[in-house]
Amino acid sequence: MSKKSLVEKAKRVLIGNFQKKGFTIPSKNLYPFQWKWDSGFIAIGLAHFDIEKAKKEIDSLLNAQWENGFIPHIVFHTKNDSYFPGADFHKSSLSPKSPKHIKTSGITQPPVLGFVLEKLYNMAYNKIEILKFIKSQINKVYKNHRYFYSKRDINNEGLIYIYHNWESGTDNSPVWDDIWKTMNPPRYKFERKDTTHVDSSQRPTNREYDHYIDIIELAKRSNYDDNKIAKHSPFLVQDPLFNSILIRSNESLIRLYKILGGNEEKIKYLKSKNEKSLTNINKKLYNSSIGAYSHFNLRNGKKIPLICSSSFSPLFCGAPDLDLARKLKNTLMKKFGKHDYYLCSSFDPEGKKHDQKKYWRGPVWINLNWILYHGLKRYRYEEIAKRIKNDSLELVDKFGFYEYFNPSKKTSKESNIGYGGENFSWTAALTIDFLSEK
Ligand code: GLC
Repeated sequence: MSKKSLVEKAKRVLIGNFQKKGFTIPSKNLYPFQWKWDSGFIAIGLAHFDIEKAKKEIDSLLNAQWENGFIPHIVFHTKNDSYFPGADFHKSSLSPKSPKHIKTSGITQPPVLGFVLEKLYNMAYNKIEILKFIKSQINKVYKNHRYFYSKRDINNEGLIYIYHNWESGTDNSPVWDDIWKTMNPPRYKFERKDTTHVDSSQRPTNREYDHYIDIIELAKRSNYDDNKIAKHSPFLVQDPLFNSILIRSNESLIRLYKILGGNEEKIKYLKSKNEKSLTNINKKLYNSSIGAYSHFNLRNGKKIPLICSSSFSPLFCGAPDLDLARKLKNTLMKKFGKHDYYLCSSFDPEGKKHDQKKYWRGPVWINLNWILYHGLKRYRYEEIAKRIKNDSLELVDKFGFYEYFNPSKKTSKESNIGYGGENFSWTAALTIDFLSEK
């Protein structure tokens, strides 16, 4: 398909998923509400052809921010029974900090909004207009970063913990498997809705869901109080992807505050936190035994020695020095970059737990590709960056705007390897962004 037709098709996906209330669903049927990091990527796509919609996307997400700065991973703008777990399960009203006017979840997702605001600024023709918008939103994003550093950094090391796998965005990654072994949740009675929309071989298992639900039950018993959750959650992890995105967003907030003028105190705060985060992401999350960054399990004080696409995300925030970046690049190409594989599989293709079909256990995701693309460009690995972009575009062009894709080129010759939700918003949005690059 020509570049122009692909962009047009992608725009139609975004327009089709945009809702009257001013936000975009990730995908019809499967995800009928607003998701936090999806919205950030979607706003980037929308900004290429409809800046007003991009602004609404961000505004409607931030309108659901909690009093303590927390931004939820799902905002339930509308009623819809086709998703589990919905608003009545999450019960955000248990927290005195949650908003009264809208229901949300009580877990979060990677803090993309800082770099998204900067991207909108860089793209906009009318800088005065966009700065007006940024001025109206930036303090909310800043407050969110302060929330992370004050509530989610229990050792004061500049590294934020997540307390649920859904907070990572990489829901059923094999990285969490050993944590599930430390739990023994009851067999909950619930009706999965995702597997009525998508083949169950492409989704997490019911038993995995028991664990996901169990942690949320614990958080609810704690009325979503961070101190209590940090004390009791069996899941407490420092994730390289989450922290890299926070650092990258800090960087953007600092630059945007400088453009806006004033705000010295805020800039000072962000700079000092960012410095600590950068030092410790390298010290604590770089894992020389595997040649990549890895997750740290705060519950048992150990590194989780597995490689997934998140392991390379520190390139996106400029954390590694040139020597470390070269090592990362080598690990990426040796394990994930074989000629019969699309870049970038979500989990180590040489790992025992790699599964080409199952969600975050192997398939390629376009948002991670976009992050790695920008990370590789930052270090001038132009050839590999080009390959990751071309692979993304080839997948979308051949198979459609799917949620995720089988990484094997061999399989792609025999069948459709686009999986999960169809007409998936961030796949469309980031395709537009890739194709709009000069
Ligand atoms: C899935 C993904 C998550 C995404 C959500 C909505 O849960 O794992 O990252 O935000 O779908 O698209």
